[in-house]
Amino acid sequence: MTVTEAIIKRNSIRAYLPKPIPQEVFTEIFTAASRSPSWANTQPWEVFVASGDALTRIKAGFKEATANKQVASPDLARPGEWSDDAKRRTATIGAAMQRDCGDAMSQFGELNSNMYNAPSVVYICVDKKHGHWSLYDIGAYSQSLILAALEKGLGTIQSAMSVLNCDVIRKELQIPDNLNIAIGIAIGYPDPDNKINNLHTERDDLANVVRFFN
Ligand SMILES: Cc1cc2nc3c(=O)[nH]c(=O)nc-3n(C[C@H](O)[C@H](O)[C@H](O)COP(=O)(O)O)c2cc1C
Repeated sequence: MTVTEAIIKRNSIRAYLPKPIPQEVFTEIFTAASRSPSWANTQPWEVFVASGDALTRIKAGFKEATANKQVASPDLARPGEWSDDAKRRTATIGAAMQRDCGDAMSQFGELNSNMYNAPSVVYICVDKKHGHWSLYDIGAYSQSLILAALEKGLGTIQSAMSVLNCDVIRKELQIPDNLNIAIGIAIGYPDPDNKINNLHTERDDLANVVRFFN
């Protein structure tokens, strides 16, 4: 698989097999991801991996928060507003889901609430002192991790839902207060029988996105 093939093949995986990820695979993919570029080689990513009982307890904490109608506590505020272009692109998801996932669409909410039944969730954190540039760096780190994982047969999904209740994650994984929990990346072996994983989202025309000047 070439790099371009991997970039094109990747899609968000929302259903996983209950199969743990071997530690040596984690070591390989995190080592590869650590080669990502960052502002002045600051390497601002701080990573916490939840699996097994720790992940079960985080999921239970999320459920309790929902049952208690607790207000969500993401460390990074959700975007307040989207541009018209962004809205137009998001609006294509519904039709793509209908086309690719059929009945499995109905599982979308439940899978989102259950961390997609993934065996592990990788939480990417960043120091609160750092500004936007470190977010740029952890985005690059995340994509590197995701592509290295793909090569090992692993699926992933970056998930805002998985960081809705940061107080729960922080307590369970003993994440220090100086770090923002930016994103959770669910990771594991994709369930090949769940059609939710067939979703192939659309991309805008290149001409709407890339402007060439001579
Ligand atoms: C920062 C970020 C947060 C996301 N949060 C969620 C989420 O909470 N739930 C979900 O189902 N998908 C989530 N996604 C996945 C996006 O919906 C997905 O990347 C997008 O629709 C493009 O599809 P693809 O990843 O399959 O190419 C998120 C993606 C990113 C990058």
